[in-house]
Amino acid sequence: MESSRSLLLLSLLPSLLLILAVPAEAAGADELLSSFIVHVQPQENHEFGTADDRTSWYQSFLPDNGRLLHAYHHVATGFAARLTRQELDAISAMPGFLSAVPDRTYTVQTTHTPEFLGLNVGTQRNQSGLGAGVIIGVIDTGIFPDHPSFSDYGMPPPPAKWKGRCDFNGTACNNKLIGARNFVAALNNGTSGAPVPPVDEAGHGTHTASTAAGAVVPDANVLGQAMGIAAGMATRAHIAMYKVCTRGCSVSDILAGIDAAVADGCDVISISLGGPALPFHQDPVAVATFGAMEKGVFVSMAAGNSGPVESSLLNEAPWILTVAASTMDRSIRSTVQLGNGMSFHGESLYQPHDSPALFSPLVQADASGKPLAEFCGNGSLDGFDVKGKMVLCEFGGNISATIKGAVVQSAGGSGMILTNQFLQGYDTLANAHVLPASHVGYAASTAIKSYINSTTIPVARISFQGTVLGTSPAPSIVFFSSRGPSLQHTGILKPDITGPGVNVLAAWPFQVAPPSTPVLPGPTFNIISGTSMSTPHLSGIAAAIKSKHPDWSPAAIKSAIMTTAEITDRSGNPILNEQHVAANLFATGAGHVNPTKAADPGLVYDITPADYISHLCSMYTSQEVSVIARKLVNCSAIVAIDGNHLNYPSIAVTFPPSSRNSNAPVVVKRTVRNVGEVPSVYYPAVDMPDNGMYIEVFPHKLVFTEANQEMDFEVVMWPGQSGARLVQGALRWVSEMHTVRSPISVTFA
Ligand SMILES: *[C@@H]1O[C@H](CO)[C@@H](O)[C@H](O)[C@H]1NC(C)=O
Ligand SMILES: *[C@@H]1O[C@H](CO)[C@@H](O)[C@H](O)[C@H]1NC(C)=O
Ligand SMILES: *[C@@H]1O[C@H](CO)[C@@H](O)[C@H](O)[C@H]1NC(C)=O
Ligand SMILES: *[C@@H]1O[C@H](CO)[C@@H](O)[C@H](O)[C@H]1NC(C)=O
Ligand SMILES: *[C@@H]1O[C@H](CO)[C@@H](O)[C@H](O)[C@H]1NC(C)=O
Ligand SMILES: *[C@@H]1O[C@H](CO)[C@@H](O)[C@H](O)[C@H]1NC(C)=O
Ligand SMILES: *[C@@H]1O[C@H](CO)[C@@H](O)[C@H](O)[C@H]1NC(C)=O
Repeated sequence: MESSRSLLLLSLLPSLLLILAVPAEAAGADELLSSFIVHVQPQENHEFGTADDRTSWYQSFLPDNGRLLHAYHHVATGFAARLTRQELDAISAMPGFLSAVPDRTYTVQTTHTPEFLGLNVGTQRNQSGLGAGVIIGVIDTGIFPDHPSFSDYGMPPPPAKWKGRCDFNGTACNNKLIGARNFVAALNNGTSGAPVPPVDEAGHGTHTASTAAGAVVPDANVLGQAMGIAAGMATRAHIAMYKVCTRGCSVSDILAGIDAAVADGCDVISISLGGPALPFHQDPVAVATFGAMEKGVFVSMAAGNSGPVESSLLNEAPWILTVAASTMDRSIRSTVQLGNGMSFHGESLYQPHDSPALFSPLVQADASGKPLAEFCGNGSLDGFDVKGKMVLCEFGGNISATIKGAVVQSAGGSGMILTNQFLQGYDTLANAHVLPASHVGYAASTAIKSYINSTTIPVARISFQGTVLGTSPAPSIVFFSSRGPSLQHTGILKPDITGPGVNVLAAWPFQVAPPSTPVLPGPTFNIISGTSMSTPHLSGIAAAIKSKHPDWSPAAIKSAIMTTAEITDRSGNPILNEQHVAANLFATGAGHVNPTKAADPGLVYDITPADYISHLCSMYTSQEVSVIARKLVNCSAIVAIDGNHLNYPSIAVTFPPSSRNSNAPVVVKRTVRNVGEVPSVYYPAVDMPDNGMYIEVFPHKLVFTEANQEMDFEVVMWPGQSGARLVQGALRWVSEMHTVRSPISVTFA
């Protein structure tokens, strides 16, 4: 959880500790082989006849044939190879070399979500669903193909453009799961040998794939909780799995997965992974997703799980959808009762019926005095008497909640109260603990600790209330959801959007429960949390839009999702954060996705690949832009588009320090395309805090008389009197049928 910025668990896997393999860096050891991703200059005026021709060209850079890990064909011009420093230096001097970056490790960081998002998935497996004819490529840990979430009941064959393949045996693939491949070089041992099936040993890929486009499965539950119909967001879409992770995920393998997904004909790519945030030309995943976007493929990626600290975002490139995570109105409730009569609601997925209703002595783990004892780290309770006691463990410390429970149990504890620190606020997670447990918020944690201080014999018990629906506030931004502002790109507001990412139920390859639990009948599911979980929701919703509007570009689909998002919760209040105060735009982006409205946005803000290249020229050198564009770009010969003029569906502006006195306005230009009714008239409305900003929009109305007609407008902004450093609000274009809303974030440098 409290993972470092560079090694990030994008789903808070409760029962799985990923041991990350960090590539051996070659510093001071020239003989050591390390993996590098090498970008080479596309050969002008040369078309490769076959993929093998291109691979041979890549081989010509390498000392011998055994070194090539992956040859990239579609979303990067270059390859991954194992090289010594000296060999890399030699390659760097060769004509055609552009740049090289060391391989890095990324980590993987619903019964209820369709209804929560207002989708009627129906109860019949034959019901018509969303996303027909669309293929979602999932870049993840593999898949468990035998799960009923991947049943192809009523699914038509894949569209004719599908070129992928299935490396599972026999009938594992079908018209739902149409493709499955493994790109983990360490498993495939280079490029030779029989393909290794993309088996999911972690569960993460099975969960994300079924969230995006899983079939309707009635009576889904985990340990009897969250009972309901499990269904993906786009129940009619096809799924293709590209396995790129085992314990960690190498960027070189991720790139190979994206390369294949684009070549195979995927329409949407879902990536619930994250690694170090880097300038885009040094970030091979940003380069590859640019290539995907250029070929019309929509990419959604996780914002990261390093919140709530500022600027903790990952995956910030403007051509991808960056997805934050928020809560649902469901709690898997377990309640802590104290000896003084006070009680506090918390959560646990494991709710044993035979749990004794008796009070136990209550003890704080940190009283053991050992290192990491407050977090119930492994070994920290050795020699400390917790037999038959309820043990208070602090959330976090980079130790998973279920491990803490196992530590308490093995020390003889009767139960665990998992207490939030201030940063986690009110948010709790429902984990499959191995003993009676309750995860409680910070306010409850403080009250429980005061009670312990107030008495010589503190006692507590945990009772289980099962699944409670209609809890509030919902949605609210969860503590772990990474926050803006973006550091890689100050001119763009990120994250873009939020969706359900807390306690999400979806398919899982194996039963989750304490080992003592009898094997339950029926398919296996799990409830987990992370921006890993919100991302496939948005991928499925993008697939539904693509199915309805096949000619829309990735930018148009993103615009539709963002400009129709909700900014209030179910009670009609502003969306709150983990402290239950209004979340700002660096937490929510444009707001909480509304899939129904997103399919019919009225107007869209579109961006072409050429626009992005012009925009990149405002940020980077020609050589750097050439790496991303995968062709030679001469920025001196291009009119650069700065952040204020890139046609993004949100607006992020920074005023220079001098501006308050000079009274010079900042002018933002945008173009909208009518994809709604004809004729239609839109009027602008500006929502800004009093005295924060003065904003004028020109023209004062937009009149569309034709389908797909485009109109330009300008937003002119002057600093207000309030003196606030950060002013946030929105611009709405309003017609009789539509509200097209763009968040505005203004920073005074
Ligand atoms: C968290 O744990 C992982 C693996 O156990 C380790 O690699 C990482 O450095 C730790 N992060 C922090 C912030 O301690
Ligand atoms: C779906 O199946 C049910 C029960 O088998 C049947 O009554 C219904 O007509 C079917 N609906 C469609 C749209 O085929
Ligand atoms: C797949 O087929 C091969 C060859 O028939 C066999 O050796 C292997 O065990 C099979 N694997 C699985 C997972 O069924
Ligand atoms: C590939 O397999 C060979 C022999 O089986 C082994 O020596 C080598 O280390 C493997 N390479 C990788 C990258 O796993
Ligand atoms: C704690 O560490 C011991 C020894 O390394 C290991 O056997 C045990 O499985 C660990 N317990 C947990 C809950 O991780
Ligand atoms: C409980 O007592 C300890 C030790 O005196 C103190 O550090 C802590 O702040 C107290 N906690 C509360 C919530 O009162
Ligand atoms: C880039 O374009 C500028 C302006 O057109 C031109 O002067 C310059 O020679 C070009 N550079 C290259 C490397 O082509």
